[in-house]
Amino acid sequence: MSENLARHFLLRDDVTFLNHGSFGACPRPVFETYQQFQLELEGEPVEFLGRRLHELLRVPREALAAELNCGSEDIVGVLNATTGLNIVIQSLGLKPGDQILTTDHEYSALEKTWDYICRRTGAEVVVAKVPMPLTTEAQFTDTVIAGMTERTRVLFLSHITSPTALLFPIERAITEARSRGIFSVIDGAHTPGHIPLDLTALGADFYSGNCHKWMMSPKGSAFLHARPEVQGLLNPLVISHGWTKQSREPGAKGAFGNSPFIDEIEIQGTRDPAAWLTVPAAIAFRRDNDWWAIADHCRALAQETARRLGELTGLSPLSAPEFSAPQMVAMPIPECDTAAVHAALFERYGIEIPVFKWQETCIARLSVQGYNSAPQMDKFLAALSELLELGTRQRAAQG
Ligand SMILES: Cc1ncc(COP(=O)(O)O)c(C=O)c1O
Repeated sequence: MSENLARHFLLRDDVTFLNHGSFGACPRPVFETYQQFQLELEGEPVEFLGRRLHELLRVPREALAAELNCGSEDIVGVLNATTGLNIVIQSLGLKPGDQILTTDHEYSALEKTWDYICRRTGAEVVVAKVPMPLTTEAQFTDTVIAGMTERTRVLFLSHITSPTALLFPIERAITEARSRGIFSVIDGAHTPGHIPLDLTALGADFYSGNCHKWMMSPKGSAFLHARPEVQGLLNPLVISHGWTKQSREPGAKGAFGNSPFIDEIEIQGTRDPAAWLTVPAAIAFRRDNDWWAIADHCRALAQETARRLGELTGLSPLSAPEFSAPQMVAMPIPECDTAAVHAALFERYGIEIPVFKWQETCIARLSVQGYNSAPQMDKFLAALSELLELGTRQRAAQG
């Protein structure tokens, strides 16, 4: 499978790339489409950005809406999930004493965003500690729901977590939040192209996800989805041509004939829209190469590698397999200087993989994408064993 697929990617031959999760990797045909857009733009900037842009921007919105099962007027392109979530977080009109309920597995840049907004508004973050290892849906849902109070205004959850690569079963918590009048804000940075996503069925108020990770479009392509009923709450982070004085009046259209939600967020001064415009090509590449089937192989390889590492370390996984992100697994490793191990894996073995400490646990977070192979997993396990002297430790423990 993978040798053939690796040809499609631009990744360097001298690096064993096991970190798709951080920034993704874009296949060559998709990247060529991206460059084609950029060439067209530079060929006639006024034609491209002045006359054609609004029509061009409609195409990825519609393609993504079909892929993620939502209305194409309810989804808009943003540069990255951080931007999409910032738009929401900075719009919610929080007051002193309001609570934002979240978990202890969230992404640091968004934790900072909440701290920033709390400092400005007097709201406070309440962190629910998810029981580990995560083995049942109820463990997660009951913990989150137990954290809801009269003061909870917002529920903020990652769908797939960054440090622990867990697939959180967020559905029941979202429903419960709705029934209590709590906004649900979901960080889906890792989900598009990683798990089949049905935004309408999920029913979150706000959901932002990256296309540039697992959907494999170029960097700088992401979306924000908002239920029609809550779109009017949102303010763009940058005021530009898309904004109108009337935009908050009932039934108002945006400056370019879409909903105000779309026009205000889509048009924010001059910028290069090529990455976003390439999203349909990324969807087509995945479809043409039967990527969900490839993803199944990747999931099996990720789980198998985690199982083998667990045998070497004697450490238990962070979750049951169904709560691990399909193509990403955070594997506990013995106590070590994680920065040194991370550097040595790259410098001595040419292996790119995040190694870090999360709470009290040292973790190697493995991503497996179509370009990866079983021999690469062997190489990684051998390198880590050597660095951490895993064989020696195990023999000592047994002896
Ligand atoms: C859970 C999570 N949220 C948000 C982000 C931020 O993504 P971006 O930098 O593309 O905005 C990441 C990035 O890895 C992430 O893992």
